[in-house]
Amino acid sequence: MYFVNNPLGGFGTLVRSALFRLDPEIAHGAAIRALSAGGPVVRRMGLQVRDPRLEQRVWGVRFPTPIGLAAGYDKSGSAIPGWCQMGFGFAEIGTVTAQPQPGNPTPRLFRLPEDRAIINRMGFNNDGAAATAARLAQLARVGRLHGIPLGINIGKSKVTPLEEAAADYCFSLDRLWPYADYIVVNVSSPNTPGLRELQEASHLAGILDELLDLNRTKATLTGRHRARPVLVKVAPDLTDEQLDAVVDLVRSVGADGLIVSNTTLSRDGLRSPASLVAEAGGLSGPPVAARSLEMLHRCVSRAPELPVISVGGISTVDDVWERLAAGARLVQIWTALVYEGPLLVSRLTRGLLQRLEDAGLTIPELIGSERG
Ligand SMILES: Cc1cc2nc3c(=O)[nH]c(=O)nc-3n(C[C@H](O)[C@H](O)[C@H](O)COP(=O)(O)O)c2cc1C
Repeated sequence: MYFVNNPLGGFGTLVRSALFRLDPEIAHGAAIRALSAGGPVVRRMGLQVRDPRLEQRVWGVRFPTPIGLAAGYDKSGSAIPGWCQMGFGFAEIGTVTAQPQPGNPTPRLFRLPEDRAIINRMGFNNDGAAATAARLAQLARVGRLHGIPLGINIGKSKVTPLEEAAADYCFSLDRLWPYADYIVVNVSSPNTPGLRELQEASHLAGILDELLDLNRTKATLTGRHRARPVLVKVAPDLTDEQLDAVVDLVRSVGADGLIVSNTTLSRDGLRSPASLVAEAGGLSGPPVAARSLEMLHRCVSRAPELPVISVGGISTVDDVWERLAAGARLVQIWTALVYEGPLLVSRLTRGLLQRLEDAGLTIPELIGSERG
């Protein structure tokens, strides 16, 4: 699936449609296995686009392009070198939980082709923080961990009661800290019972305080490292007032940014058959785009200094341009990979570079240039 260069785009489409006929979770597993096994082959395909105009520093970290892989595709960091070779400018693994967990019973992943959307209720299936840390340590030993910046997204284990959430998040931060360029506190998945309640300021303040304390301690203990940037990922189903409260809290506790947004529980405006629409779980893809963009505008105008990673329904160069111009520092994609195939990343990056060239801009100049 991932081993086709641009001149072979037709072949890429063919392989993509073959995968599309498979059960979505089997196709996803095959893609991860192909990527983790096929690194050197993918590298030779030349899918990476690098140009100084695409680069920027965020939180002191250099991002070669602003287009990243969103959390949930590579939950346990099984295919990290492959993301760089596919052309991403950064990748976020996870959600990783303190305890390994199998996730919800299958089927739990559904394509909605008529809406180019996905519904998932995976439930944080992942290998757990300790096993994931061991995998990352091994990659670091052979110098294959940091081809591009790596975000690590952490969430609460299903078995952990909400009132013990802070300790659960801290366990994962402690294990994964050495390998992360940034850390994401996921309090917005709809598929872990009660998790979204942690977005309420009273819960979130407690979790962030403990995580930021541990983050500073680890930075001091290791001496040569500064504290990791800590971001909060929010749901598109927050009301505007709830979003404002999260933005204010993130600012006041000294966290470093936001990821906007996760999947939605809303089913508004879908064309897909009612039986599919009725599946429980989080909806992603174009149906989330409008709310995700609206929330981006709101965050940027409330806290212009707080970097936001925009995610939700991004699939074209216009989408990438619009989010960056609105003030997102970085963008991520997930669902569009399923519908457009793996060459999408390279195509978007080339398209973005062409538009920068036409406009005579660099990425830092584009960001926020059309802020509402
Ligand atoms: C199958 C699937 C699994 C996901 N798992 C996670 C996850 O574990 N953690 C997380 O923060 N977001 C997860 N997401 C949400 C994505 O990271 C992203 O926020 C959302 O899908 C919107 O982007 P998109 O429209 O480009 O897909 C998942 C999305 C999908 C489709």
